[in-house]
Amino acid sequence: MTISFSERYAPERLAEDEALERSRAHLDLMRARRSVRHFSDEPVPRELVENALRVAGSAPSGANQQPWTFVVITDDETKQRIRDGAEREERLLYEERATEEYLHAIEPIGTDAVKPHLTEAPYLIAVFEQAWRFGEDGDKRKHYYVRESVGIAVGFLLTALHASGLAALTHAPSPMGFLKEILDRPENERPFLLIPVGYPAEHAEVPALEKKSLEDFAEFV
Ligand SMILES: Cc1cc2nc3c(=O)[nH]c(=O)nc-3n(C[C@H](O)[C@H](O)[C@H](O)COP(=O)(O)O)c2cc1C
Repeated sequence: MTISFSERYAPERLAEDEALERSRAHLDLMRARRSVRHFSDEPVPRELVENALRVAGSAPSGANQQPWTFVVITDDETKQRIRDGAEREERLLYEERATEEYLHAIEPIGTDAVKPHLTEAPYLIAVFEQAWRFGEDGDKRKHYYVRESVGIAVGFLLTALHASGLAALTHAPSPMGFLKEILDRPENERPFLLIPVGYPAEHAEVPALEKKSLEDFAEFV
């Protein structure tokens, strides 16, 4: 079955000057996004987070399987358990597991094994990828393009959070098995990312980083 795209989704085509205006405004908006590692404990209206998650849920996915679960954590005790788990893994990473090359790569970011953002931010969003699902007769059904799909959904989420004035950090404590345990997730889910969300702390600082220019990462052929 099909439905009309223009009737259901795009009733009118934008005039070119309106399109350019929107495109430039969106570019300015997105260039003002940074990963934030220091959060205010100021409460965040829950609907902002819910709507950002709805935006994530609208993302394209392989065979429309939507192979993601977003677990939103607000209670202090669970946040503390997650922080303890992440700091344990990160200490091992920094002190024993990481290669010199990796430590060199993350040096400009200035991070270490202490993760205050995991207890400071009002929301933690733990993202899980669903490697497979249960079919109707309890058998395992394969999901396609899982990592690509979940990555795109997270991109939608980060964009929506930023557009509503919230800060976030894309965080991948390595390895993340502790998240699955603490949050008691089913066997078909694997931890993907952990995203603290909130308003930035008043004196939050971010590393001085440059982004590549268009010519450096895109080619028109
Ligand atoms: C998949 C992924 C994993 C990341 N993991 C971490 C992390 O574990 N800790 C951290 O502090 N930042 C992490 N980051 C954030 C990056 O360091 C950050 O995006 C990058 O330095 C560019 O900065 P910007 O987001 O402010 O543009 C991660 C980003 C991505 C996309």
